[in-house]
Order: sequence, then structure tokens, then C-alpha cells
Amino acid sequence: MSRYGQLADQLQQQIESGVWRPGERIPSIRQSCKTHHLSPMTVLQAYQLLESRGLVLARPQSGYYVKAAASPQRISVPQQAHYSGSVDINDLVFEVLQASKSRDLVPLGMAVADPALFPHPQLGRALGSCMRRLDPFSTVADLPPGNETLRRAIARRYADDGLLVDPQQIIITTGAMEALSLSLQVLTEPGDWVVVESPTFYGALQAIERLQLKAVEIPVIPGVGIDLALLAQALAQRPIKACWLMGNVQHPLGHIMPDGHKEALMQLLNAHRVPLVEDDVYAEIYFGRERPRPLKHWDSRGDSLLCSSFSKCLAPGFRVGWVVAAPHAERIQRLQLMSTLSTNVPSQLALADMLRQGGVDAHFRRLRHTLAQRQQQMRAALLRLFPFDVRISDPDGGYFLWLEFDERLDSRALHAQALACGFSLAPGALFSSQGQHNHCLRLNSSHPWSPELEAALGQLAELIHQQLDKPLLR
Ligand SMILES: Cc1ncc(COP(=O)(O)O)c(C=O)c1O
Repeated sequence: MSRYGQLADQLQQQIESGVWRPGERIPSIRQSCKTHHLSPMTVLQAYQLLESRGLVLARPQSGYYVKAAASPQRISVPQQAHYSGSVDINDLVFEVLQASKSRDLVPLGMAVADPALFPHPQLGRALGSCMRRLDPFSTVADLPPGNETLRRAIARRYADDGLLVDPQQIIITTGAMEALSLSLQVLTEPGDWVVVESPTFYGALQAIERLQLKAVEIPVIPGVGIDLALLAQALAQRPIKACWLMGNVQHPLGHIMPDGHKEALMQLLNAHRVPLVEDDVYAEIYFGRERPRPLKHWDSRGDSLLCSSFSKCLAPGFRVGWVVAAPHAERIQRLQLMSTLSTNVPSQLALADMLRQGGVDAHFRRLRHTLAQRQQQMRAALLRLFPFDVRISDPDGGYFLWLEFDERLDSRALHAQALACGFSLAPGALFSSQGQHNHCLRLNSSHPWSPELEAALGQLAELIHQQLDKPLLR
């Protein structure tokens, strides 16, 4: 066996026997070189092998950490698909989002990342300079499909990752939400069946509700992705018209599908001729070494729609997103003309300028580093403060942690209690059509650590303890 294979096996044994526990950093490459008398390249190969086995995760500029997937405390999800003839989630989403907007609350339930993490001065300068140089005709020229310079800049970023996208097929939208909604609308008629993950981003359920569609919710295997066996069953049993899925940084679980799973998923969808609506909004917020490839990369039929935006990684309030829409590009533009008409032109110009000037990648690197660090810190605090049975996700990116408790926990009741105590949270009931995940919570981990945050987590532990009526072992 190769020397790196031997080292990987040895470390795997140590992880499995608990020498290195979930969340802990394994020895640095330099330390391992010294201990095992190996070259840095051999140690790096061993660590990459462990990463491909799903045992460790590389955090930029920090090292390799044991993934929670190696621990018995794994998130579990229902083992069955759930069929809903109608979805009624919008009122709950509205209520929770409205309640979490107050500045006075400790923002554990916030849906967006800490706003202080974004380059507002640069965005402001880009916006000002674009407005000063504005060709008044651009407010007409940049109607759908949107500003050409911006569309070409987006196509170039995909080309860097080996995905060839014709800028003519990219339509600039008002955030990813419009891109996703129009994509679903173009593929379906009221009453059609659409597949989503369970748990899933509530925006997918809202779009299904608005378009009067029916939902098939297929469980996600944590750390891996949608359960392909259950998806194959659903595809065989119902006339599915589209699938809305997340290959990268699944919301709310946070994992990135391994490439093998992405490929198998796309083969299945292509074989059944079912188009994918790909929600890739967190593509830039990964904690590994390389930007993960979108599912579209494995789309041999070329009919999947790839949607993303700058909202999560660069310019939250600008509301600029896009869809790579071939072969539906024209119909989507027509639908857009009937709804929002077009995307805000100054925002498009400013983002095109930011991408042209460079510096965006350096911002992305800093953002990823900070989010990874803050998430580690919150995860460690939760394990310390929640001494009862809790399963906590171990994300590969993003800024959410997903917590699963005993089935008796009522997250909606907990949400109301949390607001009364001065902090917000996202109840698990938001992430499925019939409250299947009501015993779970989503917490925002993007804010800097503070005594207020620690106190709110302590209070949350108390509230959960009271609900579950268990002795607190602190
Ligand atoms: C998974 C997912 N998709 C789409 C969106 C919507 O993105 P945007 O703000 O660009 O409309 C969000 C925002 O919360 C999200 O979490």
C-alpha cells in the first residue's frame, strides 16, 4: 500500500476510535511530516484521501477538522417521501421573517449573514461612479435579459470552473428568488408535481404554493444529498414536472453533495427527462479548497436551469441574481416582462464594475474564512451549552446550523418563547410542508461571538430543557 494510504488508514482508525473527535483539528501537515517522517506532499495526499472518505474537512488557513458525519450524533431525517396535494406555508414564513427583523433581538434566527461582513464602501463607490457615468440609454438597453457586461462576467466565472455558458442564455433577475420562481413557472402548470428536498429552503415551498403546484418532499441523507432511491421511486410513481434542488451548501443542512452523488442524481433526472431547477445561491460560501461544481456540470440533456445571485456573498440589498436558462431563456424573459419588468439597472452596472475591477475573490476568501471560524465557535458552544440529546449539522459552507431534538420538541412554541426572551430563531416547521421538522431549529452562526450571543444560547438551552422536561446536566 502507498505511504499516504497507510497514513490515511492510521488516521481513520484514530478518528473511529475517538482519538480525534468531531470538530477537533487533526495534526497539521507539518506536525505529521515530523511524526511520520513523510514529505508534505505525501501527508497532503493522505489528508485529501480522508476528505474524500468524508471523514475530515479542510478549513482555509486553519487546517483539517474531523467531520461530525464520523460521529454517532448524526442528523437524522424521515425515511419516506411525503406527498402534499397543496402547500400552505407562506403565512408562517411571513410571520417568522417579520418577527426576526427587529434590531433589538439577538439575531439567531436571521435569514441573512451578518450585514457587517459585506464590502459596503466599495459597493457604494461602484454605484456612485456608475451613476456619474451612466449612459441614460442603458436603462432601456439593460431590460431583460439584463446588462451584457454583467452577463459576460458571470459566464467567465463559470468558464473558470470548466462550465461553458453562453452569455445570451443568462437572464439577470431580481435576486435568485425571482430566477427560481420564473424557472419553476416556465416548467409547470397549476396542479403539477414538483420534487423538493426535505428539509428544504422555505422559498421553494412558497413558490410551489404561489404557483398552485403539488410537492413531493424527498428526504436528504445528511452529508450526502437527496435520497436517490426514494427519488427514483417518486419519478416512477408520479408525473414529476421539475425538481428544485441544492447541490452546494444545502439550505438548511449546509452540506455539499459529493461529485459522485451529483453525477448519479443528474443521470437519474436525465434518464427520466425531468428538468432540474438548481438553487446554487451559496456556491461562493464553501469551506473546502475549491469552489464546488454546480449540478449543471453533469446535465447531459442541457435542460436544467441554474439559478444564483450575489445576495449571499457580495451585495445583499442589491437584489441581483441570474438564471442560466437555455433552452427556456426566451420564455423566462417574457414572464419577467409580465412580473418585475426588469432588474434594477444601477445595481447591475455597479456589480459588473466590481467584477471587472477584481478584488471580489479576495472578499470571498475573507468571507469564507470568517464564516467558517464563527460557525466552528458556535458549534463548539452549542455542544458545551446543550448537555441533552441534540444533533447538530456539520456544514461544508454557509452560515446556518441545523439542530435536531427529541420528536416532542415544538419549535413553533419555542420560537414565540425565544422572541419574548429577546432572541430570534428559525423554527424547523418552516422547512417542510406539513411541519415534519417541527422538532428542529435553524440558527444563524454568522455573527461575531459576544456575551449576548452566549447568554441567548444559554437561555435557549433552558427553554428546550423546560419543554422536554429533562434534568439539565450542567
Ligand atoms: C437556498 C436559497 N435559495 C434562494 C434564496 C433567495 O436568494 P436571493 O436573496 O438572491 O433572492 C435564498 C435566500 O435566503 C436561499 O437561502
